[in-house]
Amino acid sequence: MAFKLHYYLPLTLFLVSFIAHVAVVQSASSSPSKWSSKQREAADYDKWLSWNLENYRTQTTMVSELRSSRNRSGGSGGARESTKEGVSGVVDEALRKAEMNKMNISVGQDGTADFITITEALNSIPPPNTRRVILTIKPGVYREKITIPKSLPFITLLGEGDEPPLITGNDTASVTGKDGKPLRTFQSATVAVEANYFIAINLKVENTAPHEVGSRKGQAVAMRISGTKAAFYNCSFYGSQDTLYDHKGLHYFHNCFIQGSVDFIFGYGRSLYDGCYLNSTAKKVAWATAQKRSITSLESGFSFKDSVVTGSGHLYLGRAWGDYSRVVFSYTFMDNIVIPQGWSDWGDQKRDQKVYYGEYKCSGPGANLAGRVRWARMLTDEEAKPFIGTYYVQGDNWLIPS
Ligand SMILES: *[C@@H]1O[C@H](CO)[C@@H](O)[C@H](O)[C@H]1NC(C)=O
Ligand SMILES: *[C@@H]1O[C@H](CO)[C@@H](O)[C@H](O)[C@H]1NC(C)=O
Ligand SMILES: *[C@@H]1O[C@H](CO)[C@@H](O)[C@H](O)[C@H]1NC(C)=O
Ligand SMILES: *[C@@H]1O[C@H](CO)[C@@H](O)[C@H](O)[C@H]1NC(C)=O
Ligand SMILES: *[C@@H]1O[C@H](CO)[C@@H](O)[C@H](O)[C@H]1NC(C)=O
Repeated sequence: MAFKLHYYLPLTLFLVSFIAHVAVVQSASSSPSKWSSKQREAADYDKWLSWNLENYRTQTTMVSELRSSRNRSGGSGGARESTKEGVSGVVDEALRKAEMNKMNISVGQDGTADFITITEALNSIPPPNTRRVILTIKPGVYREKITIPKSLPFITLLGEGDEPPLITGNDTASVTGKDGKPLRTFQSATVAVEANYFIAINLKVENTAPHEVGSRKGQAVAMRISGTKAAFYNCSFYGSQDTLYDHKGLHYFHNCFIQGSVDFIFGYGRSLYDGCYLNSTAKKVAWATAQKRSITSLESGFSFKDSVVTGSGHLYLGRAWGDYSRVVFSYTFMDNIVIPQGWSDWGDQKRDQKVYYGEYKCSGPGANLAGRVRWARMLTDEEAKPFIGTYYVQGDNWLIPS
């Protein structure tokens, strides 16, 4: 029963918070005639919105099913059978099993831990891994280049809140790899995660390679996340060009610090950045994001909520790496470093009508909309809604309160 409490109590609280939204959204979806003509023109956008509305409806069903199953099992919060397609269980089944079988490994440099390096600790886990393995990492500087392969899902890197461990590296795209060829951006990451269900808590990841303005191949990734259903809490990412490669998958960042200059958050992940701090170190002009949604069918995009954009230089909120690049900032404080235009099409005007760059209820001197490019979108309540909850990353079935 301990397990069930662990899951269903916080989860129920979470789901219940949906109910308020659901009513609003359902009324909106049942009366499409209320949609403005501007929205109707954007077929791409409509598809996106309807997907999100569908997602809300799934939540509603889940809430009621959860309730009725609880009643059936005598109110004990019993496990719910998956009944309908698309409602495949409150918690992702593979994840549920992994969480029932947790194990701990410690890493530290003072001789009291199971392993001295993170690499050794990871190597000790037999693939394919099916349990949640928590690597408790003691304070220290870990000069390691780490890749967590696909065969090791369910890894948690857990540091101490008041003294997070630092994982540091300095590879760039142009550094020669073992095969004699340049590493390229992808391989430059200090920490690369290919695996699904990754969690990092209280961790600092850095790439110290400097960015020279005008240099080529200076991309130097601190963190690359390529697995889906990954969550980061209280983490810091330091770099210059291309700090955080939000490559692909569903990702959730909470209370994280991300520092860099050029394109310091990039990739085609579908990610929610909740309460994050974006710090620009640009000397001249730079771009906070380069989101690479390249085709309309990609359910991808970065959503920043309750965040801060600050630092140095002149910063665009984003530039269009892909034709259909999608980024939304909501409830975010923008310092005066944000240039009035706000967004860049990377010199390709055809993208102006394709990208989805939205802002909603932001504040601060950089949030002044007067000078924005004409194709930036000032979102209505209804438009913003799909982006501003953990449902944006389908968090209800995999985001475990840590
Ligand atoms: C479940 O039980 C509660 C009270 O224990 C009741 O309020 C609720 O309506 C019941 N739900 C269903 C679906 O039977
Ligand atoms: C792992 O560590 C946590 C906290 O240190 C502890 O509560 C838990 O029982 C440990 N689990 C196992 C399987 O050793
Ligand atoms: C990168 O770090 C390594 C080891 O820490 C060091 O030997 C090397 O000089 C550094 N490279 C650069 C370009 O700073
Ligand atoms: C993250 O840090 C905040 C304080 O900034 C703390 O309250 C919270 O417990 C931390 N979260 C985790 C998962 O350690
Ligand atoms: C943000 O970056 C600036 C340099 O642009 C630096 O001076 C400042 O210390 C950074 N802020 C934090 C909180 O680290």
